[in-house]
Amino acid sequence: MAEHLLLHGKTTSVLIAHGDGAPSVVYWGAKIPDTDADAVAAALHRPLAHASIDVEAPVALIPELGSGFFGSPGIKGARPGGGAWAPRFRSVGEPEVGEDHVLLRCADDVAGLAYAIELWLEPGRDVLAFRVTLTNTADAPYSLGRLSLSLPLPTRANEILDFTGRWCDEFHPRRTAWEAGAVINENRRGRSSHDHVAVLFAGTEGFDENHGEVWGFHLGWSGNSRLVAERLSDGRRYLQAGELLFPGEVELAPGEEITSPWLYGVHSVRGLGEASRGFHRYLRDRDSHPSPDDLRKVLLNTWEAVYFKHDVPTLKRLADVAAEVGAERFVLDDGWFPNRNDDTGGLGDWWVDPTKYPNGLDELVDHVVGLGLEFGLWFEPEMVNPDSELYRAHPEWVLQDPAYPEILGRNQLVLNLANDDAYAYVLEHLDRMLTDHAIGYVKWDMNRDHVQPVHAGRAGTRAQTLALYRLLGELTTRHPDVEFESCSSGGGRADFEILRYTKRIWTSDCNDALERQRIQRGFSMLFPPELMGAHVGPHQSHTTRRTHGLGFRGAIAFMGHLGIEWNLLDATEAERKQVAELVALHKQFRPLLHTGDLVRLDSLDDATLTQGVVSEDKREGLFVYARIDTARSSIPDPVQFAHLDPDARYQARILGLPGPGGEFGRTKPQWMQEPSGVTLSGRALMRAGLQPPVLDPESALLFHLTVVD
Ligand code: GLA
Repeated sequence: MAEHLLLHGKTTSVLIAHGDGAPSVVYWGAKIPDTDADAVAAALHRPLAHASIDVEAPVALIPELGSGFFGSPGIKGARPGGGAWAPRFRSVGEPEVGEDHVLLRCADDVAGLAYAIELWLEPGRDVLAFRVTLTNTADAPYSLGRLSLSLPLPTRANEILDFTGRWCDEFHPRRTAWEAGAVINENRRGRSSHDHVAVLFAGTEGFDENHGEVWGFHLGWSGNSRLVAERLSDGRRYLQAGELLFPGEVELAPGEEITSPWLYGVHSVRGLGEASRGFHRYLRDRDSHPSPDDLRKVLLNTWEAVYFKHDVPTLKRLADVAAEVGAERFVLDDGWFPNRNDDTGGLGDWWVDPTKYPNGLDELVDHVVGLGLEFGLWFEPEMVNPDSELYRAHPEWVLQDPAYPEILGRNQLVLNLANDDAYAYVLEHLDRMLTDHAIGYVKWDMNRDHVQPVHAGRAGTRAQTLALYRLLGELTTRHPDVEFESCSSGGGRADFEILRYTKRIWTSDCNDALERQRIQRGFSMLFPPELMGAHVGPHQSHTTRRTHGLGFRGAIAFMGHLGIEWNLLDATEAERKQVAELVALHKQFRPLLHTGDLVRLDSLDDATLTQGVVSEDKREGLFVYARIDTARSSIPDPVQFAHLDPDARYQARILGLPGPGGEFGRTKPQWMQEPSGVTLSGRALMRAGLQPPVLDPESALLFHLTVVD
């Protein structure tokens, strides 16, 4: 007979059945009392249908083909010669139970395998974090093709929201009905990818930002992944995720073990917004997350300002202007090392180019630091160009199958970090740069997919991913004050595991404020604003050629971790002044923006997007209202706010944004004509709403809400 265990979060409970074979989650949803544990399991017990196996195989945490589960098995693998391909586990010993976690052990003595699953759900949080360690207990090797964890979902979760995308169009939402059959998202790119981000939400029909029951799922892993949402013919639904392993990639020697990535699940009865906030709160509670006192420094990044054209006097002047407008960090992007005048050479040679920096890098570093700014530097440590000293000396260090001609991506190859010598080389060179110069920030880039990655004769993406974590961990230990940013051609490496080592994600290479609206909204499903790199680019977007006024560009970038990626030396005096005002405004609201609850509003009108942040005590809110298109109606709908204190009285005002934005139609709504705006209850703001002015397409404004006592 199975026994039952309940773990409780702030508003959720997870009911686990164990002791009778493979453990499973019986219920995952709104909180239920401890006294209900056995009763809920009994109440949900399923009868048998005709033409079925006589004992229904559960959607176990590791579902078993060997027990007659015909969906996606949690373990896929075999012994040489074909044995142990359909294991069937039994519980071993008593589970280890703490207030916030459970550890369950199982073994299959016939197959010679054992596993331990740990599940964590802390009382104050609503994210279930779990992972599994599998051990080969037999005398023969075990070739493992999959180790994935699963959770069942109730039938009412019948709509899916997952994300596709591409370079410059990251986190693109895809909403589908969850019909019979499976949605399978497989990522083989060697990074968390632009197109198959391992995140998925499922919810009750029509779930939106503030309504419906929603379950969210994310695999914290920066390598390949496989995510499945399946509806079985017997009516059950489940989500499954794990690393995607290539054939032969993992072979467990006798006694060897492997641990899966962490899988994260969140549940909300108040729509997608609360599910996102659950993920955000979880990240914010981790030690690796920037603390609220660690203000996210406004930065100037040189990429779209000067590209590869590094010239010290120009860069110094750019730093002067950066300081003038209030930036706090100057990030020298790609182009500072030898033979790096375009993207065809130089990667791997991590020392300063003596032609561009005849007096060394410190001439610029000292200048920047002297202005009171932190100095940041770009690296792409996992890469090498064939045209580099490194490659000429060590062509054997690349992560490719040596039996085939090499395949280039952006003229570069991946360096095999699981090769000890290559790893030591990269560590030594980065360590030296960080030791020799006053560098406080590293933009860690990664710009190409793995193709035929081979390490030690077998597929090598897993080994590479683990070596990357080791390398980042080692550098962080040696340089605890240096902050790392995760960039991968924009948001190609965005996940909870890379965030143990990095404090910011470069959301997208697209700085077009219009595109950014949607990209950032998708990003915010999983990550809070303080992790979202968001820059004010030049007038004309480098990736779309669209032009936008500074007001619109500023309004969009303003909400994240603000940066400027524009050659301010080309900007007019007036523009620089406006940038300075924008930076000052951002700094004024930064504590709210980077600690508050993120709120995305729904709208029936496709032409507007509104999202904002409300302080935890709900006394203040700041929302960006963006008109992204011409509207269907001549007067826009009132904005219905959310997540406010219904009983508090708020003063609502428009906050002026510096720089040209949109015009306000013929007249402004009356409340906007009063300098003090309008004061009304949170309930009224959420139910009646607030009439926005008529705005031009591709313009935005800020609503500021503050409680008046
Ligand atoms: C990638 C990054 C950019 C920039 C360039 C430099 O595309 O995403 O931000 O750093 O590389 O080559």
